[in-house]
Amino acid sequence: MKLKRGLLVVLEGIDGSGKTTQARRLAGALRRAGVDTALFREPTRGPWGRMIRRLARRPRSLNAEEELFLFLLDRRDNVERNLKPALRRKKTIVLDRYYFSTIAYQGARGISRDRIRRLNERFAPPPDLVFILDVPPGRGLGRITGRRKREPLFERKSYLRRVRRNFLDFRGPAFVHLDGRGDPGVLARDIRGRVFRLLHKAASSGSRGGPAVLDRSS
Ligand code: TYD
Repeated sequence: MKLKRGLLVVLEGIDGSGKTTQARRLAGALRRAGVDTALFREPTRGPWGRMIRRLARRPRSLNAEEELFLFLLDRRDNVERNLKPALRRKKTIVLDRYYFSTIAYQGARGISRDRIRRLNERFAPPPDLVFILDVPPGRGLGRITGRRKREPLFERKSYLRRVRRNFLDFRGPAFVHLDGRGDPGVLARDIRGRVFRLLHKAASSGSRGGPAVLDRSS
């Protein structure tokens, strides 16, 4: 299946929401259907992403502005190195976290969410679809505290509660809010169905007034 332009599909949610599993399943389903697919994640495996992961083992080692700055550097790198080239090749990108994570997480540390959005939208291509998997913060915290032992559980939980509220605030035609507590197989089918509908809708009408996504000549 050849597309007339690339598509960007994002999965978001708090830690433990199951978005990484769903991103992998979606990418697998698209590939099996013959869609030229690329799977990426943020923080990336690049130098900034690795620095972010290293620092995350020591919570609050950075202030909110420093944290924001690092996520922006990592995202710039992802946009230039991965997203733009894949979109130019008309691939369908499945992205595990994007700038909505920055708005939700760094917003929950007190930075203006509008400002974070503006800083990102200067350079980050807009997504076609954003799935937000909603779970209560308790879920998956056992797994997470294993990695972040130095941060008290109650602090992490109240932070994730604010992050979750920020995620729930996203509204607009690109956003799909889903209950992340559902059966993972059912959730995967729902997500897959919506992405395939987007591919087909765009094929017949052209997405966002642009050219039709599916190139029927090949
Ligand atoms: P991630 O690797 O997705 O963790 P997990 O797969 O375990 O959920 O993300 C690492 C952490 O970075 C996670 O707590 C969310 C946080 N984060 C931000 O605070 N801001 C951002 O912009 C991004 C992309 C992630």
